[in-house]
Amino acid sequence: MIGLFRTKLSHDFFHGACDVHCHLLPGVDDGFKTVEASVEALRLLEDHGIERMVLTPHFMKEYAENDRESILAKFEAFKAEAEKACKIELRLAAEYMLDVGFRKHFKQGFLTLDKGGRNVLCETSYMMYEHDAFEMLYEIMLEGYQPVIAHPERYVYASQKDYQNWKDKDYLFQLNLLSLAGAYGGEAVAKAHYMLEKGMYDFVGSDMHNLDNYKRFMPRIKLGRKALDQLGILLENNRKLVS
Ligand SMILES: [Fe+2]
Repeated sequence: MIGLFRTKLSHDFFHGACDVHCHLLPGVDDGFKTVEASVEALRLLEDHGIERMVLTPHFMKEYAENDRESILAKFEAFKAEAEKACKIELRLAAEYMLDVGFRKHFKQGFLTLDKGGRNVLCETSYMMYEHDAFEMLYEIMLEGYQPVIAHPERYVYASQKDYQNWKDKDYLFQLNLLSLAGAYGGEAVAKAHYMLEKGMYDFVGSDMHNLDNYKRFMPRIKLGRKALDQLGILLENNRKLVS
């Protein structure tokens, strides 16, 4: 019954928007594989009116070769190519797994979502987390960083009590847009809609790894009035974060 009152996103919903989470930097993780594929995606996003993309490659033990210096160099090379094809402004940050390599990246200096160098996008694996994952967040907060938890709705181990506990610790939440359309299963759909309507999210990102998934699930997003208003607030938060 509730679904009857939900509508699809309008064509201009993302006009002027900024995406704060994607894997468009090619060839560095499980995201886009080639410059050509990334540029094709950027052209589509430009057609949708998106103005800025923050590229957030994985920094995790599975991609141990990714470190600050190497990713910065790859980003500059990609940016030079992308600028020939589209006008979307590209920025570099990273998505840090709270794993055994996290403290090494902390020492090297985080690639942050904001220009002020404060907001750090962090994730755990979907099924479980390292025993000291949340000590890591405490440590970086002591140093003045602001943890932003990527796609909390995807963590199958997390209950509403956990989410409230994280909010009480002042961690910020980033919604994966495609969670709303079922890209990560039914439990993530329910959690995403619930937390969006409750105003628990702070930012929104596509977490785009390839164009197929984006094209498949974006048209399936349907939201009620309250959720649409909240999503608008998140887009405005994105814009303030990155500008
Ligand atoms: Fe991601």
